[in-house]
Amino acid sequence: MPRCHLRHAVLQTCGVTLLLLPIAGYLWQKLTSKVAGQNLSSLFAVIWKYRRTDFRGFMQSHRAAIQKGKESGDYVPGVMNYYSLMSDLITLTSGPFWHFVPMIKGISRDESHMRFHHTLSQYLGAGKDDKVLEIGCGYGEMGRQVAKISGASVTGLTMADAEIVGGNLRIKEAGLDDRCAIVQGDYNKTPFQDSSFDKVFGVYTLKYSSNLEVVFTEMARVLKPGGKFLSYEILVTDKYDASNAEHREYVGNISTCTCMPPLWPAEAMRSAAKKAGLVPAVEEDIGAVPTARPWYTCFTNGIYQVLVCPLLLPFFRTAETLRLLPPAFSDWFENLLVHPTVDFVRAGRLGIISGTLVMTWRKP
Ligand SMILES: C[S@@+](CC[C@H](N)C(=O)[O-])C[C@H]1O[C@@H](n2cnc3c(N)ncnc32)[C@H](O)[C@@H]1O
Repeated sequence: MPRCHLRHAVLQTCGVTLLLLPIAGYLWQKLTSKVAGQNLSSLFAVIWKYRRTDFRGFMQSHRAAIQKGKESGDYVPGVMNYYSLMSDLITLTSGPFWHFVPMIKGISRDESHMRFHHTLSQYLGAGKDDKVLEIGCGYGEMGRQVAKISGASVTGLTMADAEIVGGNLRIKEAGLDDRCAIVQGDYNKTPFQDSSFDKVFGVYTLKYSSNLEVVFTEMARVLKPGGKFLSYEILVTDKYDASNAEHREYVGNISTCTCMPPLWPAEAMRSAAKKAGLVPAVEEDIGAVPTARPWYTCFTNGIYQVLVCPLLLPFFRTAETLRLLPPAFSDWFENLLVHPTVDFVRAGRLGIISGTLVMTWRKP
């Protein structure tokens, strides 16, 4: 190539690069910055991390477990299967918080969660000499926060192997291994002696129970006399109308997507606690304050906007056909990511589920 042509080509390439740099920078910034506490580039991280996953096998066992749960009332195998894959994924896309909190106006999602940890610790009333049990603890984020804020010793109980390994690692990293630990067990039948704990709490976990009386009786057994049980749960509200097809669809999808029995109303919790001999104490919807936006707005300003994009699923289906994505990736993506996110938002907007009710009871 003559030298003047070469110089021209080099200059042209430099010019185009200079022009594209701001656009690339803008896109990079959009993808990597956090929107409502969620990093949108995490969608690419999900695809990369799970590119060799057997989604077909996972979805088959997921559906078989739901069916088994519906027939037997035992959702534990389904929970184990679900969280074997989803624990890391939820953390990757939404951070360490696997529950909704009131989204306080003027502060970020992460800050709203931090504030919730203090609120929860206050309702629990834990002190530094208390032995606390957290049931259904996931990676134990809440237990570690309660331990840090109150100085209490916290034992986390959960089912999935990945959560126990990951949770204990996080406890060690936080330097809390002298007073915190996560153990494996089913909250319907825990491995603890009678009257072992001063306080017991569960965040977004009793929704997995198909028999609340069994769990509440077990919680009453492991609590010391005078001890407190706190539940912070996602529940159907009085506005939920089982004869309304739209209501049934959203609420039903939330349950099946995450391998749960139908969501409970608050009244079922009150009645199970009463049968277990627990006495009602404070009950409050901490989201029903003028300073808070609804709990589901953590999705509407962030990941929800991406997941409702009508081009995304056809794009993934095509990529799957071209074998750029593993088989059944789009089935998994649609049913375990898009559905629960979208259904939580739609049900939340209709007011048929509530995500911010704190309920507490005392053992006489
Ligand atoms: C939605 S996650 C909530 C995790 C954590 N509490 C949080 O809010 O960040 C539900 C948790 O309950 C656990 N779980 C479900 N059924 C359980 C059972 N029968 N016994 C113990 N843990 C259970 C799951 O393994 C998972 O860790």
